[in-house]
Amino acid sequence: MSNVIVHPDAASAAAAVAASVAQVIRDARRQDRKAVLGLATGLTPLPFYRELVRLHREQGLSFADVITFNLDEYEGLAGSHPQSYRRYMDEHLFSQVDIPASATHVPDGTAADPEQACRDIEDAIRRAGGVDLQILGIGRTGHIGFNEPPSLRESRTRRVVLDETTRRDNSVFFGNIESVPRAALTMGIATILDARRIELLAFGRGKAEIVRRARQEKPGPDCPATWLQDHGACTFHLDPESASGSAI
Ligand code: PGA
Repeated sequence: MSNVIVHPDAASAAAAVAASVAQVIRDARRQDRKAVLGLATGLTPLPFYRELVRLHREQGLSFADVITFNLDEYEGLAGSHPQSYRRYMDEHLFSQVDIPASATHVPDGTAADPEQACRDIEDAIRRAGGVDLQILGIGRTGHIGFNEPPSLRESRTRRVVLDETTRRDNSVFFGNIESVPRAALTMGIATILDARRIELLAFGRGKAEIVRRARQEKPGPDCPATWLQDHGACTFHLDPESASGSAI
């Protein structure tokens, strides 16, 4: 069973997870190796990225020896597209810290051979030595990354069709649902569970029911976040609203 911490608010949760990242970076430096971070996008991690940028500017936290792998990208969106997750990462983190562009990996939504692109991501993660710390959000469908239901425990990085609930939720970024892509490339459940540590962020009443399901339902493909119960070092960072489902 994953751990859960209920923070006073989203900013405190973001600060706690950013502090974990800083620790992972410092530990790796002490071991004379690069830190490998798995990163998420969406509305939820925005205060977390703001905090990482603040730690960089005010406390000298360096990303020079960090390698990052993002969970997912919309199919068909080039990195230059305003709603692409590559663009999101460039804007909210990569352009604001000292990470080399070559150390950042976001799936290529326009890859001519998506299957090969997915295999390349798995290989690159392996070559980097695996993910030290994976940051996650959770979608109201129970997705982590874009692993919509049903997603198997053994799934690896692949092309997925997006759930209509997800397309509707994410239409806030696009202005209308028609513009939201119908498919994406995502790390698989097994890829995510390979991370040595996982920190999941979920805020607001709209996430309370799916957080409850993720923690209480028997692990299975119909609520992919339930697979996190199989991970020995996974923490849910909640605010009082997202924790308001029963028996947290
Ligand atoms: P959100 O997305 O942070 O925009 O709610 C979370 C997710 O879909 O994983």
